Amino acid sequence: MKFFVDTADIDEIRDLAATGMVDGVTTNPSLVAKSGRNFFEVLEEICSVVPGPVSAEVTATDAEAMLAEAQKLTAIAKNITIKVPLTWDGLKACRTLADQGTMVNVTLCFSPNQALLAAKAGAAFISPFVGRLDDITHDGMGLIEEIKTIYDHYDALTTQILVASVRHPLHVRDAALLGADVATVPPNVLRALANHPLTDKGLAAFLKDWEKTGQSI
Ligand code: G3P
Repeated sequence: MKFFVDTADIDEIRDLAATGMVDGVTTNPSLVAKSGRNFFEVLEEICSVVPGPVSAEVTATDAEAMLAEAQKLTAIAKNITIKVPLTWDGLKACRTLADQGTMVNVTLCFSPNQALLAAKAGAAFISPFVGRLDDITHDGMGLIEEIKTIYDHYDALTTQILVASVRHPLHVRDAALLGADVATVPPNVLRALANHPLTDKGLAAFLKDWEKTGQSI
C-alpha cells in the first residue's frame, strides 16, 4: 500500500519524505489555507520534494472553469494530480482530463455509487473520506470494503482507492487489510505508525544490558 501525506506543510513533508515512506502528497483548499502559503508556490515546492503524485484541488464548481484551473495547476509540475469534487461537473471535468492523460483524484466520496461513477469517469484515484463518515457514526471502512468489492468485479475499473480523512493508525491498518491502494495520512498519524510501547521498552532493555558489557561496535 502506498502512503501519501495529507498536508500542505512543506516542513512536515520534507521531514517525512526523508524517511523514504512518502509516495505522494494530497492537499485540499483547507490544508492550503492552513499552510498560509501561496497555492502555486507551495505546490511547486512540494513537487520538488516529492516525485510521486501531488494532488492539487480545483476551486471552481463548473466543469469548464475546473478545466481552466486544471490547466494552470498541471503547468506547475509533471507530478501534479488534479483533484475534483464528486459532483456531475467534477465527473465531466474528470472525463475530459483523463482523456487528455492528466491524473485525476476525485475527492469527497461518501458512497459506493459515487466511487463507481468516478471510476467510469476515468479517475486515477478515488478519495473516500472514512473519518468524516465515522464522525457521524457511519462505517467509513465499510465504504472502502464496498468500493473494493465493486472495483474488483470489473477489470475495466482501474481507479486506485485512496483512503482519505484518516484519523488514526487503525484506519491505516484496516485500509491495508482491505487491500486499498493508497492511504493519505496526516503527518502525526504517519509518525504514529512506527510507535509501540513494547518496542521502546525492549530497546531500552537491550541498550541497558549492552552497556553492562562495556563493549562498543
Ligand atoms: O484528503 C482529505 C482529507 O484532508 C480530509 O480530512 O480530516 O478534513 O476529514 P479531514
